[in-house]
Amino acid sequence: MAAMKIGVIGAGVISEQYLENLTKAAAVTVEMIADLDLGRSEQRAKQYGIPHFGTPEQLLAREDIELVVNLTIPKAHEEVTVAALKAGKHVWSEKPLALDTAAANRIRKQAKESNRDVGCAPDTFLGPGIQTGLRLIKEGKIGKVTGATTAFEVSGPESWHPNPDFLYAKGGGPIFDMGPYYLTALVCALGPVTQVVARSSQARDFRVIGSGPRQGEKFPVEVPTNVLALIDFAGGEAAQSSFSFDTARPRAGILEIHGTEGSIVIPDPNMHEGSLQLFRIDSGSWEPEEIACVGEVMARGVGVVDMVHAIARGKRPRADIELAAHVVEIMQSLEEAARSGKVVKIESTTTSPELVDVDFNPWISVGK
Ligand SMILES: NC(=O)c1ccc[n+]([C@@H]2O[C@H](COP(=O)([O-])OP(=O)(O)OC[C@H]3O[C@@H](n4cnc5c(N)ncnc54)[C@H](O)[C@@H]3O)[C@@H](O)[C@H]2O)c1
Repeated sequence: MAAMKIGVIGAGVISEQYLENLTKAAAVTVEMIADLDLGRSEQRAKQYGIPHFGTPEQLLAREDIELVVNLTIPKAHEEVTVAALKAGKHVWSEKPLALDTAAANRIRKQAKESNRDVGCAPDTFLGPGIQTGLRLIKEGKIGKVTGATTAFEVSGPESWHPNPDFLYAKGGGPIFDMGPYYLTALVCALGPVTQVVARSSQARDFRVIGSGPRQGEKFPVEVPTNVLALIDFAGGEAAQSSFSFDTARPRAGILEIHGTEGSIVIPDPNMHEGSLQLFRIDSGSWEPEEIACVGEVMARGVGVVDMVHAIARGKRPRADIELAAHVVEIMQSLEEAARSGKVVKIESTTTSPELVDVDFNPWISVGK
C-alpha cells in the first residue's frame, strides 16, 4: 500500500503527540501543516520536518493531500471538517466530532455528498489496553456483562493548558472534553446507549490560567463542571459515571466493567496501554489477577492509520462517524438530563462492526 499524503490543520498542544507518531508511520506522509496562526504551523513544520506549512485554505487547495487531520478547537471542528470534505478530502477529527447532534448530522450529510470518510478521536480504544480488555470480555472472562463504573474526577486542566478557555466553553467541560474517552470505551464494551439521567453542578464561574504567556488571566466557565450520570444500554446493562473538573482529590482513569462472574479493570481510557486486573467471584480471594495488555502501541494517530487502511480496503474506519455521532448525542443528552432532571432518550445507535479485532493491528509498523 502506497503511503497516503495527509495534511494537519491545527498546530496547538495536541499536534505534537500526533506528529511525533504520524511522521514515523509507514501508512502516511505528513505533507503540510496549517493553522490560523501561521507562526505555529511554521514552528511545527520545522520541529517535525514537514515540507510545507501555510493557511487552512492553502492546505485544502492541495490536490495531492487526500486526508485532513483536524486538530482545531471544538467550536471549529464542524467548519474545518465540512470545508475539508467539500474540498474532496477524507477527515480525521479530534474529539468531540461536533458541538451537538445537529452539527454531527450536517457533517454526516456532507460526508455522503462528498463520498468521503470521517473518522474521529478518541483512538485510545484501538490501543492494546482497551483492546485487551474487550478481548477478555468477549472471551467470557467476566461472564455476561451487567454494568460498569467509570470515574474522571480532577480539579481541571487550566493549571497546565496554556489556552484552556475552550475547555470550559460549549464543546468542553468534563463531559465534552473527557466524556468521549469514557463513553466510547463503554459503547465498545456494552453496546449502544438508550437513555441517561444526570445531575450537575458548577463550583466556580471563572477559572485562572496557570501556565504559559497568559498565566494569571481569568476566563469564564460556560458549562457544568461536575456531572454524575446513570447510563442505560440496549442490552439492559447500566453504568454509573462521574465527570468532574471540580474535585481537588484526583480520581481518574477508572473504567471497570462488571459481569455475572467477575469484574475487569481496564486501563485509563485516555491512554493506549496499561495493565488490567481481573476479579473473579469464584477465585476465593479479593485479590485480582494482574494481566498485561497485549499488542503494539502507536498511541495518538493510530486511528488515522486505521482509517487509511480501512479506506484502502473499502471498509469503514473503526473509529467512524457513527460511533462519534452516537457519543456526541450521549454527551448532549447528559447535559440536557442534568438541566431538566428528566430521563433523556437517545435516538441514535451505532453499528460499528469491528470494535474488537482478535488479530488486531498487524499493520501498525510504526517505523517507515
Ligand atoms: N491538549 C490535549 O492534551 C488534548 C488531548 C487530546 C485531545 N485534544 C483535542 O485536540 C483539539 C485541540 O486541542 P489543543 O489542546 O491542541 O488546543 P490548542 O488551543 O493548543 O490548539 C488548537 C489550534 O487550532 C488552531 N485553530 C483554531 N481554530 C482554527 C481554524 N478554524 N482553522 C485553523 N486552525 C484553527 C489554533 O490557532 C490553535 O493553534 C481539541 O479538540 C482537544 O479536545 C487535546
